[in-house]
Formats: sequence, structure tokens, C-alpha cells
Amino acid sequence: MPETANLQLGEKKFDLPVVVGSENEHAIDISKLRDQTGYITLDEGYGNTGSCQSSITFIDGDRGILRYRGVPIEDLAEQSSFIETAHLLIWGQLPSSEQLDSFSRHLTHHQFLREQLRQHFEVFPPGSPPMAVLSAVLNSLACFYPELLDTEDEELFEEAAARLISKVRTIAAYSYKHDMGHYLVYPHPEKDFCENFLHMMFSEPYRDYEPDPALVRALDVLLLLHADHEQNCSTSTVRMVGSSGANLFASVAAGVSALWGRLHGGANVAVVSMLESILEQGISVKDYVQQVKDKEAGIRLMGFGHRVYRNFDPRAKIIKKQAEAVLAKIQRDDPLLGLAEELEGAALADDYFKERSLYPNVDFYSGVILRALGIPTSMFTVMFAMGRMPGWIAQWYEDRFVTRGRIHRPRQVYTGPTEVCYVPLSHR
Ligand code: SDX
Repeated sequence: MPETANLQLGEKKFDLPVVVGSENEHAIDISKLRDQTGYITLDEGYGNTGSCQSSITFIDGDRGILRYRGVPIEDLAEQSSFIETAHLLIWGQLPSSEQLDSFSRHLTHHQFLREQLRQHFEVFPPGSPPMAVLSAVLNSLACFYPELLDTEDEELFEEAAARLISKVRTIAAYSYKHDMGHYLVYPHPEKDFCENFLHMMFSEPYRDYEPDPALVRALDVLLLLHADHEQNCSTSTVRMVGSSGANLFASVAAGVSALWGRLHGGANVAVVSMLESILEQGISVKDYVQQVKDKEAGIRLMGFGHRVYRNFDPRAKIIKKQAEAVLAKIQRDDPLLGLAEELEGAALADDYFKERSLYPNVDFYSGVILRALGIPTSMFTVMFAMGRMPGWIAQWYEDRFVTRGRIHRPRQVYTGPTEVCYVPLSHR
């Protein structure tokens, strides 16, 4: 007999079905609640509300587990690549070598931007926020590929997906070069995904940038670790925009805007700013932790805490190890790493953080790797968006073509004025 939840409202009793996921997560299905009872539920911030059933990514926040299509993130970080993981997320299985070659060729074929799109960068003044540029240029892909706007055609989806994964990298590099006032470097067809990105970022007209393979691998793992994270704020945005029938370019451009926030993808920038200001002001870790605990101060330990993880974010553990290894390999020291490790130690030993289950999240150490790669802080959230692109695409596809969900339209509880008469201007 399937489990039901019993709800009593006054004298009336209602049975609500319970949905059980493949990892034994239990949810009360309230899709008929209003019809049955006239009541809705209220859950500001959706901390207790599932927006969908999904088979893409599984997170167990209590045990610090993250799996893409069932594959543990630790195994993917150790043995996979960003492009192979993108295939896993979007098409649901690890590719064969033929599939991987074909996918990689597809990405290489689509890595260039149309010349008019390249000129699009000229309209942005120097110092334009890279996330604003990224969102605008991604949205404008709809102008250059109108044939890919039919959101009911799965074949066109595959084409749009490959263009997005490949072009987001070119757009990111171009926005950096344009902002620096430097010559835009075209992608190189012989280089793999991450090496090509670093080439477009740091090569000069007279000299190709040849990155240390350890740095290329570190970037590959960093992007892979950011590739998806179930129904986070920006992914929920992509699914919501897509649910209206909007095209994939418009949906991911909206996801970029949501990711920009400092509580979300913008936190990787906020972590580095926090660490740099602690160093510049010579504040001790002990004093800074005290400031964070003082609610009046209104400051947070950026890169700490998570809506879902009540244990270590497994990505933070991997990134921390990667950061230490990369700095050792390139024989470079970064004072921010030592400071971050000291802050982590102090926070994890402090009851304020322990009582609230606050642990380092994906953003706490990622900036150390990005700095070792020579990527400016202003580009950190763009890197997050580059990594998250396959997850946004996979989730958009699932909502449109798998669950074929309804348009997302939450309810509300109205708390404004009850009916009042209109007062003509002459009487106001
Ligand atoms: C990402 O959702 C995802 O999966 C996101 C992400 C992904 O891959 O897509 O994982 C990426 O966005 C990671 C999070 C990056 N953001 C930050 O590092 C910003 C700092 N962290 C927070 O602001 C906060 O922890 C959030 C936004 C991440 C989560 O916020 P919640 O779940 O709404 O938690 P909350 O604000 O209700 O906090 C609960 C308590 C509060 O204290 P009390 O009111 O109970 O006394 O914990 C405190 C908060 O003040 N708290 C913190 C804190 N985070 C929460 N106190 C100090 N420092 C912090 N970082």
C-alpha cells in the first residue's frame, strides 16, 4: 500500500500521496492540494519544496554526497574530463570513445563566433561587468541562429547545446581580451577545450601561450566540479524560463543573471575580496570570525554555508586539494590559501558554525586555483557559468523533453490592502 500523508483541516481529513525517489527521498505530493482543500502551502526560499522530479544530479547534504547521473563526483574529478562529464549530464551516460570524439569535433566546429557577434563586444565600455557581457552575448546568439529557436525540435536542441558549450568559452575569453583592450585571439582547432580557453585568454599576436599541463588539468577539474548541482537558484531559473517555451539561449542567459548574485555564483569573487581585505587590514582570523558571529556587523564568512549541504561540500574538499597541488607544481605561493585554511580551521572549531552546520562550499577555495591560472577576479563568476553550462542545458532539456513540465507559476499569500476605492487625483 503506497504511503500517504494525512492532513486534517478542521473536521476534514485529507490523504496526500507520498512520492519516493530512487535514493529514498520522500516528498508529499501537493499538486492536488488546492483543488482538494482550497489551501496552498507557503515555503519562502523553497527550502522544503521540490520543484520537480529529476534524474540528473543527486545530492545528500547530510552525508556530503554529490553524484552526476549516479557517478560520484570524486570519481569524475579523478578520472573524467569536463567534456565527458558534460556528455554524461546531458545525454545520461558516459560516452563511448566514438561518441566522445564526435562530441569533441562538434564542439570544435562550433567554437568560433560570427564576425558581427565578435564586433558586439565593441559596444561594451571598458570595465563592463563580465557577467553582464556574458548574459547579453549569450542571449544575442538567438539573433544569429534563429533556426535553433524552435524549442520543440530535439535535433535542434543538440545543435544549440553544442554551440552553447563551445561558444560560452569563446565569449568568456573575448570579453576578457576586449576589457583588457587586447587583440582578440581566435580559438585553435587543434587544442582541447581547456587548453584552447587558456590560449584565447593569454596568447598574444606574437607568442602563443603554452600553459603547464597541470594548470590545464586543474581548470578541467574545476569546470567539471561546477557542471551541475540539482535545483540551485540559477538552474531553477533556467528551468523556469524554459518552462514558458523560451529558447535555450534566452534560458541560459537568465541563468547567468541569477548566478551573478554574491550569495550564489558571485561568492567566488566575494571570497577573494574577503581574504584580500583581511590581509590588507591585518585582521587576525580570530577577530574576523568574531566579526562574522556578531550579527550587528552584518558580515558573512563568504564561501561558507549551503542550503543543502549540512556537511562538507565534496567539491570544496577536491578543490582544496587541487589548489594545494597546483601551487606546489608551479612553485608559486598564494597567501590567500594559507589564510583560507586558517579561517576554515577556526570556523570548524567554533560552535557558531557547528550549530548552523556551516562548512566550506564550492566557492571557498576555487579562487586560489583561478588566481594560479592567471584569471582575474572579475572573471571568476564567468568561469562558474562556463562550468555550469552543461548542467543548465541538461536540466532545461529534462524539463522540456522528459518531464514535459507545465509552465512554472508559483502561488502566493496576499498580504496587501483589501479592496479600497479609487481616489481621483483632484482629491489626493
Ligand atoms: C553556491 O544551491 C546551490 O547548490 C548553490 C551552489 C551551486 O553549485 O549551484 O552550491 C553554489 O551558490 C554556493 C553558496 C555560495 N554562497 C556563499 O558562500 C555566500 C555565503 N553563504 C551564505 O550566505 C548562505 O550560507 C547561503 C546563501 C549559501 C545559504 O543560505 P540559507 O540556506 O538561506 O541559510 P540562511 O541564510 O538561512 O542561514 C542560516 C543561518 C543564519 O544564522 P541565524 O539566523 O540562524 O542565526 O546560518 C547563518 C545565517 O546568518 N549563516 C552564515 C553563513 N551562512 C549562513 N553565517 C555566517 N557566514 C555564512 N557564510
